[in-house]
Amino acid sequence: MQAILCKSFAPIDQLVFEEVPSPEIKKGHVLIEVSAAGVNFPDSLLVEGLYQMKPDLPFIPGSEVAGVIKEVGEGVAHLKIGQKVIGLCMLGGYAQEVLVPATHVLPIPDQIPLDEAAGLVTAHATAHHALKQRASIKKGETLLVTGAAGGTGLAAVQIGKEMGATVIAVCSTKEKCDVALANGADHAINYTEQDLKETVKSLTNKKGVDVVYECVGGDMFHTCSRLMGWNGRLLVIGFAGGEIPEFPVNLSLVKGYSVVGVFWGSFTQHQPQDFMDNMKELVTWYMQGKVKVNIDKSFALKDSVDALKYVTSRQVKGKVVILP
Ligand SMILES: NC(=O)c1ccc[n+]([C@@H]2O[C@H](COP(=O)([O-])OP(=O)(O)OC[C@H]3O[C@@H](n4cnc5c(N)ncnc54)[C@H](OP(=O)(O)O)[C@@H]3O)[C@@H](O)[C@H]2O)c1
Repeated sequence: MQAILCKSFAPIDQLVFEEVPSPEIKKGHVLIEVSAAGVNFPDSLLVEGLYQMKPDLPFIPGSEVAGVIKEVGEGVAHLKIGQKVIGLCMLGGYAQEVLVPATHVLPIPDQIPLDEAAGLVTAHATAHHALKQRASIKKGETLLVTGAAGGTGLAAVQIGKEMGATVIAVCSTKEKCDVALANGADHAINYTEQDLKETVKSLTNKKGVDVVYECVGGDMFHTCSRLMGWNGRLLVIGFAGGEIPEFPVNLSLVKGYSVVGVFWGSFTQHQPQDFMDNMKELVTWYMQGKVKVNIDKSFALKDSVDALKYVTSRQVKGKVVILP
């Protein structure tokens, strides 16, 4: 089969497109013929050796796929050959076939196009887990989302709205603000033109926000840490801007708010049943039109480097997928 290989931790240009043997079926797993693989910001961190975990080399990147089951391993009773599924593979998605533990494979209705199905996993599932299990967001609360036109930010806008929050999207351009508004945000702040702190103060009648979904890090995190309301939850999602911020804990004491870490990949391992229940809820919301996947661009497998560059160069609005 054809695949993208990371042979050394290096800039994404060094990824290679190669013919490799197909994975062999294993007990408790299914082999998926990949129709679409979602591209996520952490994929670039992983191949550059900047992620929390470092896989053994060489490896195939790509954590989420949608496709059709080609083979079923021993001991798997609830899945069958020919079924249309989404799979959370952690690695191996940028390929024509991938082996996935059966516990992390979910059959999907025929109506969901496979490119959109691939985009419904990491970005949406992270936002869902963060707002549901980590923030326990309640109807009527305010939710501020940074990087709100990016993959997981845009998903947080949609899911926050669905969970009854008033959503404030924070983006760097008017075009990105328009995308966030079109996806359900109640307000959008272009922080390159507007004063973020003053605008949020005025939108919240000086009360501050209840929940922040913070994807960017650095100065953006510092500003958000001064916008929190009483009993607020500042969700640490990621550091797309590259800088991991340090935090003066007195801020959390004075304003009585919590800083809450979110690591969706670990959640899927520690709480597999909750992960599956969340995914079923997401698929239901998708079928009801309550969440959608905005595919910004799709790329051929051989052009995976361009796909990753499109994401890391801050151009993406919604999701990018690879079509092997
Ligand atoms: N905790 C978890 O479990 C989890 C799961 C998935 C993703 N993440 C993390 O969440 C973050 C966002 O992921 P994503 O897939 O949504 O990424 P994305 O689609 O690339 O969006 C990231 C957004 O961050 C903003 N940004 C600010 N400075 C940037 C820079 N120097 N380079 C790139 N973007 C910059 C951009 O918005 P503006 O231009 O509007 O500022 C961009 O739209 C990443 O750090 C990722 O690792 C964490």
